[in-house]
Amino acid sequence: MAQSSSDPGNEPASDPQIVPFKAVYLDSEGSISIRSISDLYKPELPSQFLIRVEYSAINPGDLRHFHMGLHSFVMGYDYVGTVVSTHPDSSSDFPFKKGDAVMGMTFPGHARPISHGAHQAYLLADLSHNLTFHRPKSFPAIEAVGFTSPVQTAADAIFNILGIGLPSADLDGDDPSEKALLIWGGASALGWASIQLAKAAGFKCIFTTASRKSHAALREIRNSAKKQGIILSLAFDTVCKGTGIFEPPVGAEEGNPKQLVDFAKSTPSLTKSALSEGVVERGEAKLASSLPILQDSEFLFVLFSRKWAGEEGKHPGWWQRQEKVVSWVSENHEAVWKPMPVKVVDNAEESVKAIQAVFDGKYSLLKVLLKHPLT
Ligand SMILES: NC(=O)c1ccc[n+]([C@@H]2O[C@H](COP(=O)([O-])OP(=O)(O)OC[C@H]3O[C@@H](n4cnc5c(N)ncnc54)[C@H](OP(=O)(O)O)[C@@H]3O)[C@@H](O)[C@H]2O)c1
Repeated sequence: MAQSSSDPGNEPASDPQIVPFKAVYLDSEGSISIRSISDLYKPELPSQFLIRVEYSAINPGDLRHFHMGLHSFVMGYDYVGTVVSTHPDSSSDFPFKKGDAVMGMTFPGHARPISHGAHQAYLLADLSHNLTFHRPKSFPAIEAVGFTSPVQTAADAIFNILGIGLPSADLDGDDPSEKALLIWGGASALGWASIQLAKAAGFKCIFTTASRKSHAALREIRNSAKKQGIILSLAFDTVCKGTGIFEPPVGAEEGNPKQLVDFAKSTPSLTKSALSEGVVERGEAKLASSLPILQDSEFLFVLFSRKWAGEEGKHPGWWQRQEKVVSWVSENHEAVWKPMPVKVVDNAEESVKAIQAVFDGKYSLLKVLLKHPLT
C-alpha cells in the first residue's frame, strides 16, 4: 500500500507498512536498476533499528564508490525518516524510539546487506555506526536530507585535518580569526557546507572558486571580510577534478587510463598554487582533499566518518569531533545553516537517470532528492 510522505517539517506520520517498495540497486557491472522489495526489514541485532525513509539525497559518491570497488547493494547514503521499530533486546536507554524523526547517512561497504541502503522506503540503521541523528522539529525534512554527509565530511577537513577549533561545539583547536581558508569548488555540496562551517568557526577570510553562475548564491553564505594582506596557507579542494582517481578513464587508451591526466591542470594542483608564496616551502601549508591525491602526498584525504575503514585507531577522537559538528549545526541550523537548493524526484526510472547525472556533474549548486516510496 502506497502512502504519501508527511509535509516537510511536520511531525512524522504513523507507519502503515509500504510493501512492496522500490529500491535502487547497483550491480557488479556498475549498472543501476530498480528492485522490488516485498518483505519489510527487521532489526537483527540489538544495535539496529528500522527507519521509514522519507527522502534520500543523491551524492556523486553513489556511483563513485563503484570505481572504488564497492557495488552489489542498494544505493544511497544521506536520508531523513522516522524510526519504525527497534530490536526487542535493545537496551532501555537506547537513544532512538518508535516515532522519532531522524536524519543521517548509511555506512558504505562492498556488498553490504540490501537493507542498509538509503535509496528505498525503509532501511536498517546501526547505532554502532554513529551516523544517525535526531532531527530537530524546526529542521524541515527536505532541508535536513542532504545535510549529514556534506557537513560531517567538511567537518573532517576543517576541524580535523586543518586543526581548527569550534568552541561553541566543544571542539578545541586553532583560532582562525586571523587566518584565511581557500575552498576550491564552493558550489559543490562539500564546498557549500565548508563555507558555512568556516564562517561559523570565524575565519578572517574565506576564498572560494565556482562557475560564474554560482557566484551570487555563494556571496550570500560567505563572511564579509575582505582580503587584507593575509597569508593563505590552508585549503580544501572539495572537487578534486583531473587527477584520474576514482573516475572512469574517459578518452584514454585501454590499459593506460592515466595517459591523459595532466596533474598540473588538476584542481588540487591549482588549489596548491593559489596559496601564498613560500608557505609550502616553509612547511606551513595544510591541504585537505575530497578524494585521495596520489600525485601529491601533502594533501590529506577527508573522510565522511573517521569511524570507517579502521580510521578510528589512527585518529582517536576525530569521529567524535565530526559528530559534534553535525549535532551543533543541526541544533543551530536557523542561525548558522542555509540549505542548498533542491530538486525532488519521486519516480524510480527518473531516479536512475538522476544518479548518473549527478555523477556526471550535470547539476550545478543543487541537491537532488529522492522521495520515497518511489513510484
Ligand atoms: N571523502 C569523502 O568521504 C567524500 C564525501 C563526500 C563527497 N566526496 C567527494 O567529493 C566530491 C564532491 O562531492 P559533492 O557531493 O560536494 O559534489 P557535488 O555537489 O555534486 O558537486 C557539484 C559541483 O562541483 C562543482 N565543480 C565541478 N567541477 C569543478 C571544478 N573543476 N572546479 C570547481 N568546482 C567544480 C560545480 O560547481 P559550479 O556550479 O561552480 O560549476 C558543481 O556545482 C565528489 O568527488 C565526491 O565523490 C568525498
